[in-house]
Amino acid sequence: MKKVRIDKLLSDYQFGSRNDIKQMIKEHRIFHNHMLVMNAQQKVEYESTITVDDIDYRFSEHVYLMLNKPKGYECSHDSQHPTVYDLIPLPYPKSLFTVGRLDIDTTGLLLLSTDGDWAHRITAKKNQSTKTYLVTLNELVDERINRLNQPIILEPEGKVLAKEINVINEYQILLSITDGKYHQVKRMMHATGYEVIDLSRVKIGSLALDEHLDYGRMRNLTSEEKNLVFDIIE
Ligand code: URA
Repeated sequence: MKKVRIDKLLSDYQFGSRNDIKQMIKEHRIFHNHMLVMNAQQKVEYESTITVDDIDYRFSEHVYLMLNKPKGYECSHDSQHPTVYDLIPLPYPKSLFTVGRLDIDTTGLLLLSTDGDWAHRITAKKNQSTKTYLVTLNELVDERINRLNQPIILEPEGKVLAKEINVINEYQILLSITDGKYHQVKRMMHATGYEVIDLSRVKIGSLALDEHLDYGRMRNLTSEEKNLVFDIIE
């Protein structure tokens, strides 16, 4: 099991600066596997038991979360608005980031991780995972939807394609896309003659949003789910 310095681990998980952790060690507030920690340089394994102020923790090397994003939250560390990070209970690593972004008024499946390689495999240009959105339109679904069967030009980025379109009811479609341009779904629908009045991401690859998660709730991904986000290349 990979080891890490206790002061680095606790400072990554936002218990304080490395100096703060040193002070906490001096004050005998930190234990590793129930043994008092005496030295900030002590190395500990991820997943071992770390006790801080009588609370036991097990920290992973990487975090993989799915969040049901509510409206009104931005996917940014630094904003005038509430951010998705306000929804995540401490302690979580300060290196946690969103895998791609959803607009402030978009809801649904948002992944967060500390694992840059994994995130890159989902968002990298050449093999981006398919993202599926439930799109609620301002007008009845009609033949304009067929426009999505051809490439759509977004300025200035150029051509984008719908990978799959399924009509759900009079006002709603499921739209799958592989690239992730700014406001892409809203702009694609605008190009077909509709406005989007509600947008929710329901799937990334074949990983669906857990229906047991209310808005603002999250959970860790299982190791199988970590792979479901990747499209199978035929
Ligand atoms: N497309 C959009 O227009 N907005 C989102 O949040 C995601 C995809």
